[in-house]
Amino acid sequence: MPLLSNLFLLPLRYLGAFAAGLGDLARLLYLLAKADKGTPIAERLEAMTATTDGQRLLFGVLRVFNANLSMSRRLVEAYANAGTVIVTRFDDVREVLERDEDFAVVYGPRIGRLTAGSSTFAGMQPGQAREQGLAMMHLALRRDDVERLLLPAIEQGARAAVAASGRQIDVPAQLTLPVMADVLARYFGLPGSDGEPWIGWTTPMYRYLALDLAADPDVEREALAAARAMRAQLDAAIAARKAAPGDRDDVLNRCLALQKAAQPNFDDAAIRDNWLLLAVSALPTVSAAAVNALDELLRRPRMLEAACDAARGNDLPALGRYLFEALRFRPVHTVICRRAVRDCVIARGSLRARKIPQDSMVFAATFGAMFDPLTLWLPRTFRTDRPSTHYLHWGYGAHRCFGEHINRVAVPALLRPLLASRRLSRVDAPDQVLDRRGGVLPTRFTVATGRR
Ligand code: HEM
Repeated sequence: MPLLSNLFLLPLRYLGAFAAGLGDLARLLYLLAKADKGTPIAERLEAMTATTDGQRLLFGVLRVFNANLSMSRRLVEAYANAGTVIVTRFDDVREVLERDEDFAVVYGPRIGRLTAGSSTFAGMQPGQAREQGLAMMHLALRRDDVERLLLPAIEQGARAAVAASGRQIDVPAQLTLPVMADVLARYFGLPGSDGEPWIGWTTPMYRYLALDLAADPDVEREALAAARAMRAQLDAAIAARKAAPGDRDDVLNRCLALQKAAQPNFDDAAIRDNWLLLAVSALPTVSAAAVNALDELLRRPRMLEAACDAARGNDLPALGRYLFEALRFRPVHTVICRRAVRDCVIARGSLRARKIPQDSMVFAATFGAMFDPLTLWLPRTFRTDRPSTHYLHWGYGAHRCFGEHINRVAVPALLRPLLASRRLSRVDAPDQVLDRRGGVLPTRFTVATGRR
């Protein structure tokens, strides 16, 4: 019976996938024709694909007509490369991300500039140094901290932020960023409101590491200035803690205990640099994920209402299913970059097999992959019953997000009090617009709130 239904369903799925690609192509051409006629077509395409919706269309077209597009043109200036490959099918994106011996992470040099020298495990290829750094951080940030320390702190902060807001709330500025900054700073080992400057520091550093593909000198200047200021704050915090250790249960005390146990390559600078990188990876992203998901829910009133029900029932896993499905439509990262360390082939044995020349910058288009109709059932439909393996929000393979278990709890916990207690609607003001021309990190998103 399964064989018969597969025989029947498989061609249907391929036909559906082809029809979806054709639909995306028609829409893309229509939007290009409608855009400012005086602008060259390449610029119109570039402007369109700087938006999330434009990227979704482009990936939809590529998935069907050129699933692994290879070109000599360099789209990335920030990291050395000799051309670009865009990979859009779900299976191929996972293949790129799991073949880390062939496709290397690129962030190392820029992490080195932020830390003034050293890299951290996130910028390293597999090997002893990476394993050692990763192990230290797993010992310092324990899995059971999420339920025990982080969840209660986020819930308390989010409740207080919502209670203090009036008839409108600027979600990143009043809720997601300050609450997360405060919680993370205390968890890592800074007292009280010392996390507040992290909002202004981590955002430009994150932009520099993950989003500044064009190597804009202004972005670099701002990021390096933020890094200097943050390093000074962290150095002072480490020195102060060493002078008066105390028995606080936080990441810094655990790091100092590991240092005392004579762990190699774990001096004060290594603690500081890991601390800096984790804050940069954690704060802007968790906030962006929560805001993006809320934005998408506000476009779907029925789903918003169901998410509010889950929030009122204090059902965090159910709320998470709504938010992470919403995030699929507006993810924090639309692609993950890798550099091909040698000539290699992906999707070998299939019609879409592609030779990838050494030094190509490979865009593993996780956003495109999460709409692949040959893997996801009805990908354009909002569904909360998808297997978690269909979400690539946290990447895949060796460099999969270190904070994944935090994200799963932090994103719903940040939004729960707002969704549970208020009737939300969009504010008809320019700062409600979230599609930030590739800017990705929302710093303002005001919604109107009314008591239920
Ligand atoms: C919702 C929020 C977040 C999103 C969407 C996100 C997304 C990602 C993605 C896609 C990657 C893979 C990058 C790659 O393969 O090149 C990644 C890696 C990483 N993330 Fe996250 N992240 C989030 C929150 C966090 C948090 C809270 C932390 C820290 C506590 C964190 C720390 C890291 C680190 C250190 C890496 C590098 C891992 C490695 O190279 O082994 N992230 N993240």
